[in-house]
Amino acid sequence: MDSIGIGLIGWGTVGCGVVRVLQENESIISNRLGMPLVIRRVADLDIETPRPVAVPREILTTDAEAVLRDPKIDIVVELIGGLEPARSFILEALESGKHVVTANKALLAQSGNELFEAARRFERTVAFEAAVAGGIPLIKSLREGLAGNRIDTIFGILNGTSNYILTRMTLAALPFSDALREAQQHGFAEADPTLDIEGIDTAHKLAIACAMGFGSRIQLDKVYTEGISRIDPLDVRFAEEFGYHLKLLAIGRQEQGRLEMRVHPTLIPSTHVLASVRGAYNAVHIRGNAAGSIMLYGLGAGMMPTGSAVVSDLIDLARDMFCRAPHRVPPLGFLPERLEWVPV
Ligand code: HSE
Repeated sequence: MDSIGIGLIGWGTVGCGVVRVLQENESIISNRLGMPLVIRRVADLDIETPRPVAVPREILTTDAEAVLRDPKIDIVVELIGGLEPARSFILEALESGKHVVTANKALLAQSGNELFEAARRFERTVAFEAAVAGGIPLIKSLREGLAGNRIDTIFGILNGTSNYILTRMTLAALPFSDALREAQQHGFAEADPTLDIEGIDTAHKLAIACAMGFGSRIQLDKVYTEGISRIDPLDVRFAEEFGYHLKLLAIGRQEQGRLEMRVHPTLIPSTHVLASVRGAYNAVHIRGNAAGSIMLYGLGAGMMPTGSAVVSDLIDLARDMFCRAPHRVPPLGFLPERLEWVPV
């Protein structure tokens, strides 16, 4: 093996980030791995619109099957988002013996259990660092750094768009709709911003993070979800007057086998570290019974931070392949649903 072949399905913002990280850090990555990661195919329905990064014309295709069937592709990166055809592409890639990297939090939150079962069946890995908190290595922290801990709580700010809106409403007294428009212009918002402002994107990420941290299956339907769309500039002002900031928090807590997951606007004392998390930044607090409290902070959205997370998975998988580790087990806490859910 003298290189690892990569196929991208989806050449949007994150796809461009992946290409740019691989291009800019090519020699660093090759030196770390002892071999290059080579993009062999890029599939997108639109291959004509100019992008901020270039790839050789001959590797572009409008046919995802050209990626899925290419024997020189070892890892398929799914970046089209949404449920279908992303789910089918991932299943097909696994069945064809390819590993998969995805940033698709909506798909993992809804069909992750099925996809991880399939990965286990085909002895391949589905890696998903980019699905939660953009450039922050939250998944790797839970899976590796804190692997020896019982995780008690995971809470924080997991949606850059909502945090951007609340920040602009607080600091610039912008009305909600203007702040949302700005977030869309910056490219943080989902294609359907309802997912951001109704807390659904945050719920997707919390469901995935809790499954990793607490060792349960993904249970999206158990996440109490309330967004920020009904927050009025007056709410923000009154909160400030009383010494609080309004934040959309994701909260996951495990206590004696009981699991609580919720997403809702929360009043945070202005002196609390989360109150100072502004704009599209995310921050996550994790408490492990051995490590104690850990705080992760960084950009939760955007081309390069999310590209960085995808590439970190590519490097992990390349290392596994190099060591001839067939796949990563278990990809998630594959224990039965042993945690009792606490209704909120
Ligand atoms: N719409 C998401 C956000 C993108 O604003 O955080 C990153 O997942």
